[in-house]
Amino acid sequence: MLVIEDLYSGYGELKVLKGVNISVGKNEIVALIGPNGAGKSTVIKSIFNISDVSSGKVTFRDQDITGLRTHEIIKLGISYLNQGKINFSNLTVKENLMIGADQIFEPELVEEGLERVYNKFPDLRSKENELAYTLSGGQQQMLALGRSLMQRPVLLLMDEPSLGLSPKLQKELFETIAGLREEGISMLIVEQNAKKAIELADRTYLLEDGKVVLEGGKEILENEAIKNVYLGGRY
Ligand SMILES: Nc1ncnc2c1ncn2[C@@H]1O[C@H](COP(=O)(O)OP(=O)(O)OP(=O)(O)O)[C@@H](O)[C@H]1O
Ligand SMILES: [Mg+2]
Repeated sequence: MLVIEDLYSGYGELKVLKGVNISVGKNEIVALIGPNGAGKSTVIKSIFNISDVSSGKVTFRDQDITGLRTHEIIKLGISYLNQGKINFSNLTVKENLMIGADQIFEPELVEEGLERVYNKFPDLRSKENELAYTLSGGQQQMLALGRSLMQRPVLLLMDEPSLGLSPKLQKELFETIAGLREEGISMLIVEQNAKKAIELADRTYLLEDGKVVLEGGKEILENEAIKNVYLGGRY
């Protein structure tokens, strides 16, 4: 589905990623964990070509997408759920969702997408005509995820989707994410909570200082480095 090879990327003079290799298979949930500033968001931004990629290659469904413009990447079926607050606060819930559908030109597909999002997140249906800034934090996250889903992605890149959510809402979100996989969406998820991420994902990459230092399945929960640094309350 997605293959990142020997990626070097950053912002102007600042080199952040120093030879990153990451892959996401079809129907796979892959997590990316690591300390603040390690370059996790930069990995996602590099795929979307909104950081400065200096070398390396990004392949999506056997097509080289390195250097493609962001809107072209969206059209191919990759959607990016940004870190932090990301809705258009003075537009209604429905208007926010419709922005996600602005590249879908068949009205039936847009209707179907809306129905799908409303079924998944009933709060959004009941608040369809409310302005986005009136939503709770959890509902805002649902709206942002809903807007991504309106793009009908086959690959979803999520940057800390659980940030700021209560434990209960985090749990619900992770269940939703697991459900999306059943609908045929592959996912790369940046997650602060290492334990939750490893439990949710099929495979996890640990990024430190712009390099992948560990990769594995759920068994890495038992890895000493993971235990000491990441499960010891630092996150
Ligand atoms: N737009 C930007 N311009 C310049 N430097 C940036 C920009 N975005 C990030 N950086 C720098 O790049 C480095 C990696 O940042 P990045 O956002 O990828 O880290 P992260 O692993 O996502 O961290 P966090 O867990 O805090 O979200 C940091 O040193 C950061 O200051
Ligand atoms: Mg980040």
